[in-house]
Amino acid sequence: MLVTSALPYANGPLHLGHLVEYIQTDIWVRYQRARGHECLYVCADDAHGTPIMLRAKADGISPEALIEAMFEEHRCDFDAFAISLDNFHTTHSDENRFYSEYIYRGLRETGAIAVRTIRQAYDPVEEMFLPDRYVRGTCPRCGAADQYGDSCEKCGATYTPMDLGDPVSVISGRTPVERDSEHHFVRLSEFEERLKQWMGASGRGGGVQREIANKLSEWFDAGLRDWDISRDAPYFGFEIPDAPGKYFYVWLDAPIGYMASFANLCARRPDLDFDEFWGEGADTGLYHFIGKDIAYFHTLFWPAMLMGAGFRPPTAVFCHGFLTVGGEKMSKSRGTFITARTYLDHLDPEYLRYYYACKLGPGIDDLDLNLDDFVQRVNADLVGKVVNIASRCAAFITRHFDGLLSATLPVPAMYEEFVGAGSEIGAAFEGRDYGRAVRRIMALSDRANRYIDAEKPWVALRDPARRDEVQAVCTMGLNLFRVLMVYLSPILPRTAERVESFLNAGASRWEDVAHPLLGSRIEAFKTLMRRVEAKQVHAMVDASREEEGHSDSEAPATSSDASEVDLEHFDRVDLRAGRIVGARAVDGADRLLELEVDIGEGRPRTVFAGIRASYRPEELVGRMTVVVANLAPRKMRFGVSRGMVLAAGSDESGIRLVALDEGVAPGTRVR
Ligand code: 2FM
Ligand code: ZN
Repeated sequence: MLVTSALPYANGPLHLGHLVEYIQTDIWVRYQRARGHECLYVCADDAHGTPIMLRAKADGISPEALIEAMFEEHRCDFDAFAISLDNFHTTHSDENRFYSEYIYRGLRETGAIAVRTIRQAYDPVEEMFLPDRYVRGTCPRCGAADQYGDSCEKCGATYTPMDLGDPVSVISGRTPVERDSEHHFVRLSEFEERLKQWMGASGRGGGVQREIANKLSEWFDAGLRDWDISRDAPYFGFEIPDAPGKYFYVWLDAPIGYMASFANLCARRPDLDFDEFWGEGADTGLYHFIGKDIAYFHTLFWPAMLMGAGFRPPTAVFCHGFLTVGGEKMSKSRGTFITARTYLDHLDPEYLRYYYACKLGPGIDDLDLNLDDFVQRVNADLVGKVVNIASRCAAFITRHFDGLLSATLPVPAMYEEFVGAGSEIGAAFEGRDYGRAVRRIMALSDRANRYIDAEKPWVALRDPARRDEVQAVCTMGLNLFRVLMVYLSPILPRTAERVESFLNAGASRWEDVAHPLLGSRIEAFKTLMRRVEAKQVHAMVDASREEEGHSDSEAPATSSDASEVDLEHFDRVDLRAGRIVGARAVDGADRLLELEVDIGEGRPRTVFAGIRASYRPEELVGRMTVVVANLAPRKMRFGVSRGMVLAAGSDESGIRLVALDEGVAPGTRVR
């Protein structure tokens, strides 16, 4: 089987939200391997699109340099969290270009591509078409200010950017104009019957979750609309073969990245056959793990693309919910926007793997990371219960029996019972109900501890006649521990490795426990896992609070809390050097002056400023000051104010304009 996780965008660091998915996928993959299946796991960076292009521009580097740096960072994070990828590739690759073009041609040849002209918001300053989310303005339905160009966060209305009142480009701050452009579309409705069949067929085998199947029915009922797969230059992506100046939309080539990453792996692994996994009618399993927000792309667009180009559709698409921390959205000011790196600076990745496993179920509910609960569970379950079995028993075997296990088990039935639980625990893993698997494993750990408590080897040890008994009880305990470790190995792979070297035996495959360990020698016990200290968690939160984060989505960042801005937000305020070339009092407004400010646009801007108490108009003309150039235009009684001049003070204390030294040309960016 071939398994994938959604491709992270190459414009920001991985954070604990991403890790829900990678850990969920990795546990499943490791479980499959532990059952003896050949299970391949691939991923890649999602390297194309407008946000990446703009981020690189803002950083003053090429998009290639940006995605390369991110690639290295992501790869290190994956390794550190023991995400067992067989390949980590990038969508900005030859393989991906090849398959993107191939699929596009396939779709075109079957008549599934339509070309038509559409009208879109265009930024005349940046000279580019604006994605919906890069236009903001007033909601046409409820009048809420500062809403995205596709939907209103206040009332939920959906619309197009030019429906907004006073639309403004997020990039330049200017009012967008409308422009025509030819676009390429996938006619999704052509695939309706096949998609329904796929959903039905895969649905029977658990291919999409019930919640997603319901969503799909809604989407079918609403009618499948054509999907716009092209974008105009400037765009960071692949140019469409027969349409110069047009590029594949990032969401076209992103899922093809799964294929490309696999093709890249095949080039290194001659034992793998690409067609066996992607060819039409392939009987291997193809499983995608994704967040519920991108189900539409993976259950409609992606299968349609595959079908249209003669490839096999996915066996299943598994969706999960979002991460909250302490019951709320991750927040930079609260220190709960925690990057993978910051976590690693303070805590062991195995803790997080375990905690997420406890909380993960097969559905699409959100998952909460409660930091107190995190400390408590790791310490109580892993250190207090599981590792405790090994540490108590190993000490006796090492000290009094030279590391030698007894030749028979005192209670073979109990061992068999532990082994027998493997089918139920396995089924829970298979069904992605890791919480259930963990609960069952912890119940068994309690039993093993109770067994040792009841047998009291430390008491028996005082009686030389009962020495064999001590050895047998501890051998029993260690064997039970080993079975539990096998069950936990998909979740705690590093700990399982340490256990294998401590026991000198396999502890990461279901079949490893078919026979108990008897008469063999173990190594001296070394700490398998340390307790988490609350202060480590606090230090991590403190470090996150200081950190500056990056946006992780297709859309420009919006902060979830108002108290701070990151650099990206700050950069959205377009400050320009401006020369005041005209100033006059406004009739009927005691506080206002109407300024004409040259900010290098050819024509001066009109800005109304509440500084009349402090300045006579004529003393302002000729001064250099700073203008917020992308402030949304504001209609006032006397006219429209297009920007704001910066000043300090109040009417009472006197207002002073921010002054810029001479030698700076009007229009120069101020930072
Ligand atoms: O939503 C995201 O983060 C996308 N980068 C996921 C892409 S998954 C796949 F389709 F490539
Ligand atoms: Zn609204």
